[in-house]
Amino acid sequence: MSTQFAEAISAIFLTGLLALATLVSCNTEGDILYKQKVAWKDPENVLQSWDPKLNNPCTWMHITCNNDNSVIRVDLGDAHISGPLIPQLAGLNNLQYLELYGNYLNGSIPIALGKLKHLVSLDLYDNLLTGWIPSSLGAISSLRYLRLSGNNLKGPIPPLLGNLESLENLELQNNALGGYIPASLGNIKTLIYLRLNGNMLTGSLPLEILSLLDNNLVELNVANNNLDGTTRKSGTRVTTIIQDMLKTTS
Ligand SMILES: *[C@@H]1O[C@H](CO)[C@@H](O)[C@H](O)[C@H]1NC(C)=O
Repeated sequence: MSTQFAEAISAIFLTGLLALATLVSCNTEGDILYKQKVAWKDPENVLQSWDPKLNNPCTWMHITCNNDNSVIRVDLGDAHISGPLIPQLAGLNNLQYLELYGNYLNGSIPIALGKLKHLVSLDLYDNLLTGWIPSSLGAISSLRYLRLSGNNLKGPIPPLLGNLESLENLELQNNALGGYIPASLGNIKTLIYLRLNGNMLTGSLPLEILSLLDNNLVELNVANNNLDGTTRKSGTRVTTIIQDMLKTTS
């Protein structure tokens, strides 16, 4: 066999592989969502329309696509579903809104969700999620709403969340989070609501976070933790801070 012939054969083979890969990726988003459906219990049959035989998931209930038939929203709040979040959800490349609050989701938040680079809203509040908040979420620079409250999350608040430069709502209240409140959260000048109450956080509230009250922050709730309550007075809006024993030192 001549080298040229071998090269031609391998070129044809590669082209074939590429074509196959394209073909397979056509229905990837539907496959991912169907896989998630199978992993869930759905006693109210809210996922009945999720038929894997359709070309794409864009006609399924609770799914919204863009003009290129790519999924941008999953809206399944208060839907009585239970079970885990599958890491393959990270393959929904154009996903902007993942609304799964008020269900019975258990297991941990997949690290892979940090790959959802267009995500605007990750609403997983009021579920039964356990484990740590993945640091990988700090890579989603488009994120504006990160609401994980009302679960059983433990471990520290990842300092990398301070990289979320568009974040407006950070709601981690009513979990079992521990450790110090990372000063890096003070980098998020866009923050409007910061709710960390009802955890087991220790140390004191970093001044970097208090100074966000000079930006957009309107609610800073750190009540019901194990904070040592020493902080410094910061302007007039200090009254919006809700803390167990707020002491001011000057
Ligand atoms: C989630 O809940 C189901 C049903 O109660 C249970 O079988 C499963 O083990 C739970 N998974 C985790 C990770 O806790």
